[in-house]
Amino acid sequence: MGSALYLIHTLGCQMNERDSEIMAGQLEHMGYAPAAAEEEADLIIINTCAVRGSAEDHALGHIGRLKQLKAKRPRMTLAVAGCMAQEPKTIAWLKRHAPHVDLVFGTHNLHQLPRLLDEAEQHQEMLVEVWKSAGDIMAEHVPSRRKPGVRAQVNIIYGCDKFCTYCIVPFTRGRERSRQLDDVLAEVQALAGEGYEDVTFLGQNVNSYGHDLLPRVDLADLLTQAERIAGIRWIHYMTPHPRDFSQKLLEVIGISDKVSRQLHLPVQAGSNPILRRMNRKYTREEYLDLIGRARSAIEEVTFTTDIIVGFPGESEEDFALTLDLVREVRFDSAFTFLYSPREGTPAARWEGRDPVSDPVKKDRLNRLMALQYQISWEANQLLLGTTPVVLVEGPSKKEPRIWAGRTQQGKVVLVERESEADLTDRFVPVKITSAKTFYLAGRVAGAPFPASSRSVHTIAVR
Ligand code: SAH
Ligand code: SF4
Ligand code: F3S
Repeated sequence: MGSALYLIHTLGCQMNERDSEIMAGQLEHMGYAPAAAEEEADLIIINTCAVRGSAEDHALGHIGRLKQLKAKRPRMTLAVAGCMAQEPKTIAWLKRHAPHVDLVFGTHNLHQLPRLLDEAEQHQEMLVEVWKSAGDIMAEHVPSRRKPGVRAQVNIIYGCDKFCTYCIVPFTRGRERSRQLDDVLAEVQALAGEGYEDVTFLGQNVNSYGHDLLPRVDLADLLTQAERIAGIRWIHYMTPHPRDFSQKLLEVIGISDKVSRQLHLPVQAGSNPILRRMNRKYTREEYLDLIGRARSAIEEVTFTTDIIVGFPGESEEDFALTLDLVREVRFDSAFTFLYSPREGTPAARWEGRDPVSDPVKKDRLNRLMALQYQISWEANQLLLGTTPVVLVEGPSKKEPRIWAGRTQQGKVVLVERESEADLTDRFVPVKITSAKTFYLAGRVAGAPFPASSRSVHTIAVR
């Protein structure tokens, strides 16, 4: 008999992606191998996201559909993990509507997956083991199976203490806990040794990193030290909060060759009364001041953002201020969301009193997207004729004769395939010949950097 097969479906953000890698690592350590399809899997894990109703519906729909497969293959184990598992209402729903689920575990105990699977096997009924908090546990040295390639994600801080009034994350991920600087740097060093060249530091609030450590360190210190690690070419981090973006951090990014000069600064709204009720802890003016300081400290800086439309009580005037801010900052791109009430959050209680109606919400979202698309298109035109380095991720999904990749600043670039050489995971200079709203396109304009560059890469020590 071959090894047991597993499949993990991941919804939500990079934190969930990383968690899925840690689940996969533990499973492979136990002897599991990846399954190619649900029908052959002995274990299916749905790693859920609770940030908006649409993400929850997606997960519940999928879990519901697996009932049939489970009936056909009763020995298959079905597990539900991730942020939704942290919510009592999900557990109640699963017990009622999805008794075919075997195991539910949360965001704080995924490093105990082998034991949980073992216990689920002994259990007749659904086994639910969800911890309210991580307690004192900082799980280090848990095996993980990263995606192959040169890009890797590294957790630096777990949880969120910001409690924006619309957001479920502080409830599903618990309080902020930073990993030790040395542990993070050792992980990056090991990744460089394995050939990874592009790292992304992860946290809900990366610029709170280190406030709970002794000696105290911050994200700027981490970036400065990570940059000295030979073999790492590009460094990203997500997501920073506009409130804690220090001058020191701006300066470190400004002098770095490795750290991306794209700042993702979720603004959420452009009106002060809304920002206050969202508990974002900055005003429109403070946000714009940060944008200005970033422009002076970082040459060629670009900005992207997240915006919520239709927060309870958002008037047409409030919304006009959001449009106005978008015009003023000229973000390269924006993730725009319809406000989705999350049970248990303060804003969900106000929703009943002062909701924005669905048609108004949708109309505002359309107007915001139309404006942002225009600005994105214009911003991309400025890159025509330039020759940025592109990290090729692989053949485009739609068109195998085209390579798809990204610049250090996160722009998607499609590259014409002009030779048989495989450019996957290579850093290639590309001359931009066409610029659309969502991507750039161009032609290879020089030799790819050596695949194994460790020996020739200079170490920037500052
Ligand atoms: N920690 C990150 C964001 C995490 S969630 C930050 O603060 O920037 C990603 C995005 O989802 C948020 O920036 C916000 O724009 C959106 N979001 C969060 N809760 C939401 C809700 N209840 N309804 C709609 N969008 C939401
Ligand atoms: Fe949610 Fe706000 Fe924390 Fe981001 S900072 S995860 S939006 S509570
Ligand atoms: Fe979703 Fe949890 Fe991330 S709610 S956005 S998967 S932290």
